[in-house]
This record gives sequence, structure tokens and C-alpha cells, in this order.
Amino acid sequence: MEFVGYVASLFGLLAFLKSVVPSEIWDVCFGFAKSHLSFLSTYLNKLHSSFYIYEYDEGFVRNDLYPCVKWHLSSLSSAHASAATLFSASDTSKIRFRLAEDEALMEMFDGVAVWWQHHVKRRQDEDDERYFSLRMRASHRQLLLGRFLNYVRAHGKELELQNREKQLYTSDFSRSIPFHHPATFDTLALDPVQKQEIVDDLREFMEGEEFYKRAGRTWKRGYLLYGPPGTGKSSMIAAISNFTGYDVYDLELTAVSNNNDLRQLLMITTNKSIIVIEDIDCSLDLSDRANKSVSQSTNSKEDIGKKELETSHVTLSGLLNFTDGLWSCCGSERIFIFTTNHIGKLDPALLRAGRMDMHILLSYCTFSAFKLLAKNYLEVLEHDLFAEVEREMEGANFTPAAVSEILIQHRKNATAALENLLAALKSAKFNTCS
Ligand SMILES: *[C@@H]1O[C@H](CO)[C@@H](O)[C@H](O)[C@H]1NC(C)=O
Ligand SMILES: *[C@@H]1O[C@H](CO)[C@@H](O)[C@H](O)[C@H]1NC(C)=O
Ligand SMILES: *[C@@H]1O[C@H](CO)[C@@H](O)[C@H](O)[C@H]1NC(C)=O
Ligand SMILES: *[C@@H]1O[C@H](CO)[C@@H](O)[C@H](O)[C@H]1NC(C)=O
Ligand SMILES: *[C@@H]1O[C@H](CO)[C@@H](O)[C@H](O)[C@H]1NC(C)=O
Repeated sequence: MEFVGYVASLFGLLAFLKSVVPSEIWDVCFGFAKSHLSFLSTYLNKLHSSFYIYEYDEGFVRNDLYPCVKWHLSSLSSAHASAATLFSASDTSKIRFRLAEDEALMEMFDGVAVWWQHHVKRRQDEDDERYFSLRMRASHRQLLLGRFLNYVRAHGKELELQNREKQLYTSDFSRSIPFHHPATFDTLALDPVQKQEIVDDLREFMEGEEFYKRAGRTWKRGYLLYGPPGTGKSSMIAAISNFTGYDVYDLELTAVSNNNDLRQLLMITTNKSIIVIEDIDCSLDLSDRANKSVSQSTNSKEDIGKKELETSHVTLSGLLNFTDGLWSCCGSERIFIFTTNHIGKLDPALLRAGRMDMHILLSYCTFSAFKLLAKNYLEVLEHDLFAEVEREMEGANFTPAAVSEILIQHRKNATAALENLLAALKSAKFNTCS
């Protein structure tokens, strides 16, 4: 560290001298030295090996090593970097360090020095290209590289897990925002038995690496959430994300122009992710399949190929390849969640066994779900009016969202809240009966 500091100040002094000494004098004094210095630096470069860690490989495949290095360096920067950028998200008290652009850092590993540098290449009309370089003495390379990189990777992963916020990716998945939906399985207004079933299924899935390997299956799981609007599909997704700690990719199918783009999006997603396709009945042209089978019987095979190329939208076959065909194999620990308000409108091909592992009906508020809401919103565990609520809830077809709204409105007074709820339940029943 000390030595690096001296060299840096020497260069600083030279730069200063150069700025004050007239250039003719400078050339005379240092022209000779300069030619030897450049020779020296090429010689030194030959002694070193450099490695580059780009954020994206070949343009769009995310490099898994990059975030590990970033986290690893963030811990070093706080102690050793001479320039670091600081960042704090508005909702945490943590301050994060990052090695500043073009800044270099020396690290000792097993008594051997390695040098890191953070590079940013500005590009017009495109995102900046970011990468780290790692330099070490060529003679240390054999000895060190594998072991050192494994250490960096493990260290980075560990830090990431401790510090990371779950991310929500939307549209083309190139940007994300921290995902802080407050719903958890504890707050979800759901029948306890059903909830337990889902939690058990998720746990089994997350611990299932061995099983999926042994069975030769892709490590993924598909859930179909269906039921009327307002029954908590988004909260369910947030709760699953909270339980698993996975990132959420919200896939807007209508914004994906064709099957090719869909495949590229899938390749961007990382392991341990939840891929959500909401309102699948609305976003996919479901007439597509029927029309294709009609055209298949009338047209030659060539025409169909042409047609598939020409049609600029995502097809059901593309979507099925996305979830369980060949494409889905590049990665693991993925959860696919489809949601729909109208399960009847879905193509049977999507519902066939094995496509979606679990069909989850999110339905109207039950009494046990209501009790949970009462506990969360009113902090009431028992109440004289509960028995009557239980009676009235039967067949009232109130969604958890509607019940929540009434309880929240009167959260200061539990009795008033329950009375209002009862009135609403009764009038709803009266309307449906008459
Ligand atoms: C889940 O939610 C709880 C309560 O909001 C929070 O403390 C916890 O950190 C969350 N877990 C994950 C993995 O986000
Ligand atoms: C599919 O066929 C139906 C009737 O056969 C038609 O109404 C619909 O517009 C067609 N859809 C497409 C995408 O061609
Ligand atoms: C889906 O995969 C099958 C075989 O795996 C292939 O024949 C079909 O063309 C693919 N569909 C699309 C839209 O790529
Ligand atoms: C992603 O999953 C694949 C297949 O299981 C595995 O080989 C790879 O190491 C995983 N990547 C990460 C970052 O865990
Ligand atoms: C709560 O509401 C009930 C019925 O609407 C009312 O009788 C009672 O006075 C209210 N209590 C408070 C503390 O406002």
C-alpha cells in the first residue's frame, strides 16, 4: 500500500512539474528518460497478466461474475479506496460504497498483491459499458487465479445476500427498481390450509435441487393464480417473492413483439427468479392457435413457416417453449406465475398437466381470512360480532380487497368497522337474492 502511495505521489509531482516548466526545457530534460520509461512500462506490462470482467457478455447475457466483483470491491472500497462513490437508498440506513470510475485498488491475497480497476466506457445512444480489470504478476497467475476468483465469487455472493434488495424488472428487463411490496404470507388474507399448502410447495421446491437433478428435470415450477379481481393475486406474488427472496420479472407480453424477443428476455433472467405473466388471457392472442390449425389443413408447410415469421406477435407455442420447452433450460430455480381472471378462457394446452404445477384459486373472502384481516387492521382477535360476520360472509362473495377497504376506513373503532362490514355484507346479499 505504502509503495503504491509513493509512486502515485511521484507521478503527481511529475505532472505538476510538467505544467509549470516550459515544454522545451521539459523535452530536453526528460526526452531521454521518457523513451526509456515507455520501454520500462511495456516491460512491466509483460510481467503482468490482465483479466477483464464485463457486466454483459456479447452485449446482452449478464455476467454472473460482475456483481460478485462489485460486492467484493464495495467492501474493500470502504476501507482502502482513495476514491469511492457513496449511495444510500431512501428507505435504508445503509450506505453503500462503490469503487469510483477509473479508480484502482490493490488487494492482498495470501500475501500476494492484485490490482483491481473499475472502467466505464461511455457510449452514445446506449448504456455505458462497465467492466473491472484484474491485474496480477504473471508468475502468480497459475498459483492464484482459480483460488482467488473462487474466493471473490463466494465473498461477493455472501455480501450480496446480506445486503441485496429484491428487484422488480419490467418491460425489457434491462432496468430494475427495488421491490418493497409489504405483503408476506403472514399478512395474506387466505385460507390457512391453502396458505400452508403453498408455503410447503415453495419450500419443497427451493430445497429440491437434488431431486430435480436426479429426475433429470429443469429446476422450475409453474403456478397459475386464478379467481375474480381483487382477490389478492399481486399480494400473493409479493408474498412468494418475500418468502423465497427471489427477484421478480414482470413480463408484459403485449410489449414483446415476437417469439424471438421473448426468448432473449428469458435469457436475461437470472437463476432464482420469479417470472410473472399477468392476465394471460388478455395478453396472448388465444385465437392464434385455433387459426393455425385451420391454416395447417389448408396450406402447405412452407406457407406456415412464412406465416410464423411474418406474424409479429408472441404465439402460444412460443410461450410454451418459454416456460417448459428447450428455452427454459438455460438457468434454474425459476418460478413462473401466470395470473388470470377467467380460467375458462385459457387454452387447454396451458392447463394440461405438467405445464402449470399448481393451480391456485384465489377466491372470495372466507371467515378465517377475515379473522386475519381483523387482526392485522383492527388488532382484534375476538369480538361479539364475529359470529354474525361468519354467518353473513357465507355466500356474500366479498373479495378480501373489499373487506379490507371497509376495515381500514374504520380502523380506529373496531365495533364501528364490524357494524359497517355487516351492513355491507347484508346489502350485497339482498341485492343478489332479489
Ligand atoms: C419479508 O418481509 C419481512 C417483513 O416485511 C421482512 O422483514 C423480510 O426482510 C422480508 N424478506 C425478504 C426476503 O425480503
Ligand atoms: C382467428 O380466426 C377468427 C375466426 O376464425 C377471427 O375472428 C380472428 O380474427 C382470427 N385471428 C387472427 C389473429 O387471425
Ligand atoms: C417450440 O419448440 C418446438 C420443438 O421444441 C419447435 O418445433 C417450435 O417451432 C418452437 N416454437 C417456436 C415458436 O419457436
Ligand atoms: C444457474 O443454474 C445453473 C444450472 O443449475 C448452474 O449451472 C449455474 O451455476 C447457476 N448460476 C448461478 C449464478 O447460481
Ligand atoms: C365506536 O363505534 C360504536 C358504534 O358505531 C359507538 O357506539 C362507539 O361510541 C364508538 N367508540 C368510540 C370510542 O368512538
